[in-house]
This record gives sequence, C-alpha cells and structure tokens, in this order.
Amino acid sequence: MKHAIDHMGKKILFSRDVIDRQVKALALRISEDYREQDLIVIGVLKGAFVFMADLIRSMTIPCQIDFVRLTSYGSASTSRGEVTLTKDIEIPVEGRDVLVVEDIIDTGITLAYFVESLKRRNPRSIKVCVFLDKRSRRKTAFEADYVGFTIDDGFVVGYGLDFDEQARFLPDVYLIET
Ligand code: PRP
Repeated sequence: MKHAIDHMGKKILFSRDVIDRQVKALALRISEDYREQDLIVIGVLKGAFVFMADLIRSMTIPCQIDFVRLTSYGSASTSRGEVTLTKDIEIPVEGRDVLVVEDIIDTGITLAYFVESLKRRNPRSIKVCVFLDKRSRRKTAFEADYVGFTIDDGFVVGYGLDFDEQARFLPDVYLIET
C-alpha cells in the first residue's frame, strides 16, 4: 500500500552508523553522570521508543523504565500550546533520579509541561535527554541536558519519528524534501 510519504522526496540526514555512534556516546555520558544513582528513565511515546531502547542498552548502569504519552493540540506544523497526558507513568518517582527521554524537542512546550508536572511528584532530580533538538523553533526557554543532534527547521522522519504515523520504523533519519 502506498502512503503520502512514499511520493515525497527524502534524503538521509543521519545514517544509522552516525546515530549509533552518537547514541553510544550519550549513553556513556549518562552512565558516568548517574553512577551509584537510583535512575528511572521515562520515555515519551510514541516517538522516543526507538532512541530509548538503543540508549538504555548502551548504558553501563542499571535503570528502571517507564513511559508517558503526551498529546498536544493545535495545527500540526506550528505548535500547539495545550498538552494533555493520555498515559501516565506507573512507577512512583518520589525521591528518584529521573531521566526523561524524547525523540525531538521543537517548540519545547511538551517537555516544559511534562517536566513541570513531574516536579510536583518530588523526584530527587530530573534531567532531559533528546535525540534531536530543533532549536530555532523554541517557544519556551527549555533546554535539554543531553542532546543527540541539533537540527535546523525541516520535517524529519525515521528512528521513531513519523509523518502521519508513517516511517517510524526506518533505521536512519531522513529529511523530507518539500
Ligand atoms: C513530538 C515529539 C514531542 C513533541 C515535541 O510528538 O515526540 O513529544 O512533538 O514538540 P514540541 O517541542 O513543539 O512540544 P508528537 O506529537 O509528534 O507525537 P509522537 O511522539 O507520537 O510522534
């Protein structure tokens, strides 16, 4: 079956080899920073699932994992502003060291909302790790603690990131040519 994305031009932005090296480097930094700590890694569904799976398997320290699903409303390409939690974490985070893992930070609205809501649950610490940081689109002052790649504006798919629910399975990251 053909999807809209099959008719669009796309070029590789980050190959699977480049991604692999960068994810392993991030995992080592995180493992150093969280040595001897009580780490819980929280992935934001859906996009983060591929990155998070690779990241935790390259870490050299133990962790627990959980997931949230956050939905934002508004037009698809601009953002949004109102964020709703549609699936919550299941493990209590009070007193724990929390690392939130996201596929992409764009306006920053989703992560700013989630980090604020997590703070009310009194974790010992909260940090954020994003695979891609689209800095030019930020509408909040939000900064991630760990960033895989900083990218310019543009539509990217693959490695968990979708276009209308297509292309999440691709092992490389592509820039859609519009
Ligand atoms: C993407 C991404 C972040 C959010 C970032 O999620 O995974 O959650 O958008 O945007 P922001 O910084 O402007 O708030 P999306 O809504 O596409 O859902 P998905 O993860 O299920 O693809």
